[in-house]
Amino acid sequence: MSAIMQGMHTDIGLVNTIVARSALSFIDGEKGVLEYVGYDIDDLARHSTFEETTFLLWNLRLPSRSELADFTAQIRRNYELSEGMWDLIVSLPRDASPMHALRTLTSALSLHDPAADDPSEEANARKSISMLAKMPAFIAGFDRHRKGLDLVRPDEQYSIAENFLYMLTGEKPTERMARAMDICLILHADHGFNASTFASLVTISTLSDMYSAVTTAIGTLKGPLHGGANQGVMLMLNDIDGIENVEQYVMSKLANKERIMGFGHRVYKSYDPRATYLKTFAQGIAEDTGNLELFNLSHEIEAIMDREVGSRGIYPNVDFYSATTYYSLGIDLDLFTPLFAMSRVSGWTAHCLEYLQDNRLIRPRCDYIGPHKQPYSQLSERV
Ligand code: CMC
Repeated sequence: MSAIMQGMHTDIGLVNTIVARSALSFIDGEKGVLEYVGYDIDDLARHSTFEETTFLLWNLRLPSRSELADFTAQIRRNYELSEGMWDLIVSLPRDASPMHALRTLTSALSLHDPAADDPSEEANARKSISMLAKMPAFIAGFDRHRKGLDLVRPDEQYSIAENFLYMLTGEKPTERMARAMDICLILHADHGFNASTFASLVTISTLSDMYSAVTTAIGTLKGPLHGGANQGVMLMLNDIDGIENVEQYVMSKLANKERIMGFGHRVYKSYDPRATYLKTFAQGIAEDTGNLELFNLSHEIEAIMDREVGSRGIYPNVDFYSATTYYSLGIDLDLFTPLFAMSRVSGWTAHCLEYLQDNRLIRPRCDYIGPHKQPYSQLSERV
């Protein structure tokens, strides 16, 4: 008997299925609204920090000044890696993809935690802080290793954004660069039940552990239809030979039914509010760093896409202008998706902690469409 016959409905891609309740982020895809715990993303991007935003997602309220100071100090005390983890970074193949490296290193962190399977709330919070604090060292460390550079140890005087840029380049970032990085982290921190968050919840709902949940999420984020799109945007920008060729490039992609990376969204059918903010920001940082040509190229793609498919609700998403921003910050394009993970770990863990409050195993059904009652023939009787 098929699931449909039992009164269930089929929803391929879970487009119209609500699978849980959450108080973390609210998205109105028609109006282009995104709120974390009721705070508008625009206010958070303008006034908050990634650390404060993470506190908000983990505690469902903004911290007091002393709470934020304590929380920040706790994160910074977790920056340093064990010698085993540093050794592991330099043992990875230099030509590995940074997303594979990040997924492996995050998973390996559990091997150095004797309480990796402790399911208590306290242990889960500790593991969340540890992953949040250490991911920047995984990404920057692996990047320096593959380039044959000495690894730079984290510095507790820096915020997460500053610390990442410092470990990547070996130099203290300018205030504007650090702020740009911090804003990107805030904007990517959470986004409802996106594919990677949902994947992390499937894992945690089995009462597995936080490291496994985040490792699952990193693997899911990597795909080009999800977090991998920001790298795809940069590859596309590199592929277009001058602004005069944008029209022909976009039109031929659309004619071939190919996707333009950084456009469209399952939930937003109007302008993604994160892209609105990033667009202005990307322009400023591109101007500062001599990358205005790249920004103008992006802007031209947007104009043509708006003319061709805007009426179908296909607009730039968060990945479109974050690509220009990261490029202007001098970050290699295959680090764009790891940066997404470095931010989204805050949302993944927040959702896991929330879901565990009232856990139920996530176990959907499929609509079986294969044959029944097939006669089994012995192998010796088959050709
Ligand atoms: N370029 C050209 N056409 C598009 C695009 C695009 N980027 N996105 C959607 N369409 C068209 C698609 O071809 C389809 O047309 P038709 O009805 O004629 O077959 C229609 O719009 C609906 O597409 P869909 O794939 O059914 O819509 P979806 O809600 O399943 O897909 C999406 C959402 C994000 C997978 C899709 O828009 C896409 O592939 N975008 C490019 C990749 C990208 O930028 N991903 C990042 C998403 S935002 C970051 C995140 O949250 O991960």
